[in-house]
Amino acid sequence: IVVLAVTAGLCDDRLPPASHTMFPKGFKFGASTAAYQVEGGWNADGKGPSIWDDYLHKHPDFIKNRNNGDVADDSYHLYKDDVKAIKEIGFQTYRFSISWPRVLPTGRTNQVNQPGIDYYMNVIDELLANGIEPVVALYHWDLPVPLQDIGGWLNPDIADLFTEYADLMFKTYGDKVKWWITINEAQSVAGGYGGGNAAPALNLHGTGDYLAGHNLLRAHGKAYRMYQQKYSHQGGKISMAFCGAPCFPTTQSPEDIAAADRCFQFSFGWFAHPVLRGDYPPIMREYIDRNSKAEGRNVSRLPYFTDEEIREINGTVDWFGLNYYTAYWGKEGAVGANPSTDRDSNVNKYFDPNWPSTASSWLKVIPQGLRLALQKLRQEYGNIPIIVTENGYPDNGDKDEKRIGYFETHLAEIRAAIYEDGINVTGYCLWSIIDNFEWRDGYTVKFGLVEVDFDSPNKTRTLKKSAYWFQNYMAMHKLIQ
Ligand code: NOJ
Repeated sequence: IVVLAVTAGLCDDRLPPASHTMFPKGFKFGASTAAYQVEGGWNADGKGPSIWDDYLHKHPDFIKNRNNGDVADDSYHLYKDDVKAIKEIGFQTYRFSISWPRVLPTGRTNQVNQPGIDYYMNVIDELLANGIEPVVALYHWDLPVPLQDIGGWLNPDIADLFTEYADLMFKTYGDKVKWWITINEAQSVAGGYGGGNAAPALNLHGTGDYLAGHNLLRAHGKAYRMYQQKYSHQGGKISMAFCGAPCFPTTQSPEDIAAADRCFQFSFGWFAHPVLRGDYPPIMREYIDRNSKAEGRNVSRLPYFTDEEIREINGTVDWFGLNYYTAYWGKEGAVGANPSTDRDSNVNKYFDPNWPSTASSWLKVIPQGLRLALQKLRQEYGNIPIIVTENGYPDNGDKDEKRIGYFETHLAEIRAAIYEDGINVTGYCLWSIIDNFEWRDGYTVKFGLVEVDFDSPNKTRTLKKSAYWFQNYMAMHKLIQ
C-alpha cells in the first residue's frame, strides 16, 4: 500500500526528488508542541496557575492582540484531533510537554491533581494506540505560581522540587514513555529572569539569567541521577532541548573566528558544556569573571558549581536535543547588544540582509546554520546522537509555500551533515504540528502544519499544503526503512 501511495505520489510536483529524502535506517520524524501553547483549559479540573497564566492575566498588553493561552487550541479537550493529524501525516513521534501545575497545582508532590495525571495518560495511550512514540518534556516554561512566589528558578530549592516532580512523572508514565526532555530551552527560561520578554520578566540583566541557568542545570542533573537510580529499568533516554543560534565568522580573521566561537559558547555551550563536560565553557567563565571584576564586584555574576555538583551534572544527557531556527554573522564587539550574554561575550551578532525575513523578527532563513550548529556540536562534544527537537517556519497564515521550502532546505542540510560530515543525527521533530500560541506574538504568528480556526467553537483543524508535502516526504523515506 505504501509503495502504491508513493508511486502515485511520484506524479505530484510537490514531491522533492527522491535523493533528498533518504535518511539512515531508523531515522525518526516527529512533530512538537508545548502545553501552554496548545492545551488551554488553564484552570480546568483542578489545574493550578502557571507563571504564564498569571503574568498574562496581570499584563494583557504583553501579547499581541491581548491574547493568552487560556483556551489556545483547546488540546486539553481535543487532543484526539491532534493525534489524528499526527497519524494522518505519518509522523513516528510526537513531542509534547507536561504542564507542571496541571499535575501538581502548587508545584509540590503533596497535592496531586488526578484529572491532570489522567489527561497525560490519555494522550500517551492515544499516541501508543496509533503507533506514535511520545517524546515528553517536563518543563516548557509554565512554572507553578507558588514556586515563583518563592523565587522560581532563582531559588536553589527548585532543584529538589523539580526532581520530586520528575520522579512522579517517571513513576507514572515511564513504562510507556522512553524519551524524556527535562527542560526545554533553558536559555530561554533564564531569559525570563534576566530579561523582559518572557514570564516572569524580572529584567535582572546579567545576574538573574545566570543564577536561573545555574539552578536549571542543578535541577536537570539531579533529576537525571534520580532516574538512573530509581528508573533505569524503564530504559528511557534523557536530554534537554538546547537552543541557540550559531554565528558564522564575519571574516576568517582570528578575532572574528574567536567571536563566532564565543557566540556558540555563550548560547549552546552555557548549558551543553556543563552537562557534557562538567562545568561552564572556560571562555564564559573567563569573560564574565573579568567583567564582574571590572564592575567592582567581589563575586562573579556567573555562579560556581561545587565539585559535587559538577560530578552530579557531568554526563547527564543520553542524546542531544537541538532546537534550531536561525543563525547570525558574528564579529568582535557588542555594540548595542541587549541580552546579557551578548554584552558579556563581546560578540556583535547580526543578520545578513540577504537572508529571507519571516513573520518572526528574530528568525531569518539560513539553513546552512543548521549544519554549522551540528558541526560545531560534534567538534565540541563528540559523536553524541542528536535529535533536532524543533525547527520550523513562522508566517501570518500566508506563506505556507515558504514553509515547505524551509523544511526541504533544512532537511537537506541534515542529510549533508549525516552523509558528508558523519554526524550522528537520529531524528527530526518539526515545530509545530499545529498553529498555536506563539508567546509574545500570540496567535498572529503561525508555525503549524495544521491550521486552526481559533474563532470556531471546536477549533477546527485543517491540514495545510505543507502537511501533505511532509506526508509525501516521509512516505518516500519509509521505503528504505
Ligand atoms: C522555541 C520554543 O521552544 C517554542 O515554544 C516556540 O514556540 C518556538 N521556539 C518558536 O518560537
